[in-house]
Amino acid sequence: MKRRNFLLNSAATTLALTIPRISVSKVNENYYKLTAESKKFKFGEKGNKKSNLWLYNQKSPGPTISTKKGTELIVEFKNLLKEPTTIHWHGIRNINEMDGVSNLTQPAIEPGETFIYKFPLNDAGTFWYHAHNKSWEQVARGLYGPLIVEDILPIGFDNDITLVADDWRLTKEHEFDEKSLGSLMDWSHQGRLGNWLTINGESNPKISLKENTHVRLRLINASNARILNFKFKNYSAKIIALDGAPCEPFIKSAFQIAPAQRIDFAIDIKNKDLMLFETSTEKLYPTALFPIEKTDSITDNKINLKNLKSWDNFPNLNQPEIIDIHMQGGAMGNLSSAIFNGEKKSLRELASKEAKLWAFNGEIGDYSYTIAEIKMGKTVILKVWNDTAWKHSMHLHGHHFWINSFEFGKIPKMIMRDTYLMQPGEKAELIFEANNPGLWLFHCHMLEHAASGMVGVINIDS
Ligand code: C2O
Ligand code: CU
Repeated sequence: MKRRNFLLNSAATTLALTIPRISVSKVNENYYKLTAESKKFKFGEKGNKKSNLWLYNQKSPGPTISTKKGTELIVEFKNLLKEPTTIHWHGIRNINEMDGVSNLTQPAIEPGETFIYKFPLNDAGTFWYHAHNKSWEQVARGLYGPLIVEDILPIGFDNDITLVADDWRLTKEHEFDEKSLGSLMDWSHQGRLGNWLTINGESNPKISLKENTHVRLRLINASNARILNFKFKNYSAKIIALDGAPCEPFIKSAFQIAPAQRIDFAIDIKNKDLMLFETSTEKLYPTALFPIEKTDSITDNKINLKNLKSWDNFPNLNQPEIIDIHMQGGAMGNLSSAIFNGEKKSLRELASKEAKLWAFNGEIGDYSYTIAEIKMGKTVILKVWNDTAWKHSMHLHGHHFWINSFEFGKIPKMIMRDTYLMQPGEKAELIFEANNPGLWLFHCHMLEHAASGMVGVINIDS
């Protein structure tokens, strides 16, 4: 199925006005101003070379947008880059024309243009925003930030901390490695992997906490392709939400977080320092340190996790729409040819001439590739088969899905998320109710994989 359907959004406001540069990101409770612009940034020690990053409001990560559930968020965004861009609000079950996918839900925002994003916040949780035009490059250069939608019912945390993790690829001079952007070697393997881990733009930051308090940590993996393995030391951490959506709480102090995923933790702080380590390499790599400040006072806040309510019930499985998605391609895969722009071509040719390497159901995907057309109200089962030699972080726009997840151990857990990490060979069923009309992407969030074919559109018809 091939379709060209650029829903050019006429209601959206593309202002020609020149708006003065304002450094304040929050104008009031629900009105934010963002820019995307290039900015010099230093990784690590003084003396290190400065990198040329692309950032929101000159910050890495971009400013935290934080507001209450049930309100409408307005973001006045100005593109000060030299190339077009858009912003996607990852995990928000958004209205389609505000989803921010360039050339699918809106035209790309040209250099110098302003675009107003305006949408209701119907779910509380941990989200993030990131560029969605050439995201493999724009996100790698730093275009992302956290979006927190606050609960209405009090949960009782004394402290709410967001940790945005990113894995940068730097040169020996500690400079952002521009030259390796677009390397076919990365694209055909796991994607662009880095060598420099940051939390909120810093290496091993210190974030102090008070003794005898209850803290909520919201962890976001903003890496292009890196699956991070973390471990908390000195404390047991309770997972309370996944990809924004509250789950049945469970203790898990060592865990994995794939690109674009979020995990919220509840931790009761006592008198020992809390430490976060990355555990992928042989040596524990210190990622963040939370020193404890002693106090005599004891907080009276009681944690009420019951006030974290599941967003949805499991959908009705009567007469579901079953969609098979066969993921193929990549290095060491079994895909020898695929359909690209209506023509069958060898993978060798597709790789060398078009930088296309991955496929869904034998077709190189892009925004004009329709995976399925679905009637509103239907329950959908995406039967996804990862027939490749690689892990993939599969993301659905506009909806969360239910998944019997193997991400937290051998015993599967039925959870709701918007991004699911699939193992090589894994077959998974992503179940959701098609209750949000529009053109929604389904893609791998290893952004190089999406750019080279692992992407398609699910069209939900109102
Ligand atoms: Cu966070 Cu289409 O992505
Ligand atoms: Cu992938």
